[in-house]
Amino acid sequence: MMAVLDLKQASVLFGRPASGIYALQDVSLRVQPGERVALVGANGSGKSTLLRVLHGLIRPTTGVLTCDPQLRQSMLFQRPHLLRLSVLSNIALGLWLRGVPWHDAQLRSHNALARVGLSELAGRKARALSGGQQQRVALARAWAMEPQLLLLDEPTASLDPHAKREVEALIHEFADQGHGTGDAMTLVFASHNLGQVKRLASRVVYLDQGRVAADLSVSDFFCGPLLQSQYPAAHLFVKGESL
Ligand SMILES: Nc1ncnc2c1ncn2[C@@H]1O[C@H](COP(=O)(O)OP(=O)(O)O)[C@@H](O)[C@H]1O
Ligand SMILES: [Mg+2]
Repeated sequence: MMAVLDLKQASVLFGRPASGIYALQDVSLRVQPGERVALVGANGSGKSTLLRVLHGLIRPTTGVLTCDPQLRQSMLFQRPHLLRLSVLSNIALGLWLRGVPWHDAQLRSHNALARVGLSELAGRKARALSGGQQQRVALARAWAMEPQLLLLDEPTASLDPHAKREVEALIHEFADQGHGTGDAMTLVFASHNLGQVKRLASRVVYLDQGRVAADLSVSDFFCGPLLQSQYPAAHLFVKGESL
């Protein structure tokens, strides 16, 4: 099967070779269609850098990223980064910038807003919404691109518990249903929330100081010794509870 993404032996150096830091070192990651890969690891372990490399925002210092140039991919950040425009325009502008005629862009934006349950807020100023609503708008904006690959960097980390659940449920629905075109949606997401990892992921990549220290199926990750040693509260999950 053709991989969605194939990153080979990538390193990312910030700064000069002598004094800089390697945010990633010798990272290889091959992601197949429909996989749901969770990136876990301590702060500073390289999760965000890896997602940025996968989205083409950072070119690796060494190593090669191969992906289908036709692949449609969107990225969702920890904070929503919305423009000082209406909710609808925030979504439509992204489509228009990618060549979708304005009228179609508006129609697709209305559909995307309906998909995240925010139709009634289309005309509101995006920055005036609550954090959870803003993240749903950002998710609608990502979804409107009809991505085959969705990259998410701690998408619920800045949200209150209620909004966390809402946004996570939407991500889950999107991954399950895709766009109704038969294409599975592939996810690569960073998360500190082990409950979320357990609910969303099929595979877990554990980063330690910029290196892949483990790459396991989600069941092996939750049964294995790595979890116990790296996450002091992990026994809660092993007993089937959620945080
Ligand atoms: N733009 C940057 N310039 C310099 N150092 C950076 C930059 N972005 C990240 N880093 C460093 O790279 C390492 C990995 O960071 P990051 O990918 O953000 O980790 P994580 O998302 O896992 O917390 C950290 O040591 C961080 O300080
Ligand atoms: Mg990060």
